[in-house]
Amino acid sequence: MTVLAFDKTIKIQSSDGAQTQAPQARTSQVPAAPIAFSFRGVTRSFGDKTVLKGIDLDVPAGQFLAVIGKSGCGKSTLLRLLTGLDQPSSGDLIVNSDGEHGNRTRIMFQEPRLLPWNRVGRNVEVGLTGIAKGEEARAKSLGMLEEVGLADRANEWPSVLSGGQRQRVALARALVAHPFILALDEPLGALDALTRLEMQALLERIWQQQRFTAVLVTHDVSEAVTLADRVIVIEEGRIALDLDIPLPRPRRHGSAELARLEGLILERLLGKGG
Ligand SMILES: Nc1ncnc2c1ncn2[C@@H]1O[C@H](COP(=O)(O)OP(=O)(O)O)[C@@H](O)[C@H]1O
Ligand SMILES: [Mg+2]
Repeated sequence: MTVLAFDKTIKIQSSDGAQTQAPQARTSQVPAAPIAFSFRGVTRSFGDKTVLKGIDLDVPAGQFLAVIGKSGCGKSTLLRLLTGLDQPSSGDLIVNSDGEHGNRTRIMFQEPRLLPWNRVGRNVEVGLTGIAKGEEARAKSLGMLEEVGLADRANEWPSVLSGGQRQRVALARALVAHPFILALDEPLGALDALTRLEMQALLERIWQQQRFTAVLVTHDVSEAVTLADRVIVIEEGRIALDLDIPLPRPRRHGSAELARLEGLILERLLGKGG
């Protein structure tokens, strides 16, 4: 486990005065994977309120990153920037692509946001809009529903499913087109504790199969250390903590090592005094 101080980029002053930045080698065990995306000095202001005050972040392809921070600190804003739903006020955001998945990005929210007038299978096909249609889309949708354990519910209406099942449909819709990056904005926040644990295991299993880059916003520190390769804490618009979680998977809830890492993060979230 390595605790990294935040600013891991070298700022190079170019001759015309413009700042460019080059990634500096990380000191930790993170493998030298290609970068999925980079935030370079990214800020985002709303009126005179600056929410993100200079985010520098390089995320290797395939990494599972968790983002934690107090309510209103800018976590959803960060995901909206990453998925192209919003633009930075200043700084650069570079989203790379790979040959297999392109630079496709998907986002999943706390509410499943299914279309009530479409059956479950059609809801998953929405994730293939512009990518596949007809029989091909139906087959892909069914395949993905099978991955999330709902192949036998394809012809049901969303309204007859439980909250956990609806989120599984939303996950299938997000992943059916095999995105390069999956942004998750507190996707398990509304689920009961047991369903939440099941969903965590499902998410981890599918991530291990598909190897997309996952960016999970959560307020559950235990969930973050259980699922993520790396946890960042956002505080006052900046990354206040950048912590690797180099533990083998699957991880056991309540293990001493997870508890220790959780403690480190909570200490940061609750203030230096403790
Ligand atoms: N479109 C917007 N217009 C004005 N203020 C916004 C907008 N989006 C977010 N904010 C403000 O930015 C801050 C961070 O919001 P958000 O990213 O949703 O926080 P979090 O997801 O961490 O709870 C909040 O104070 C919020 O009110
Ligand atoms: Mg939010």
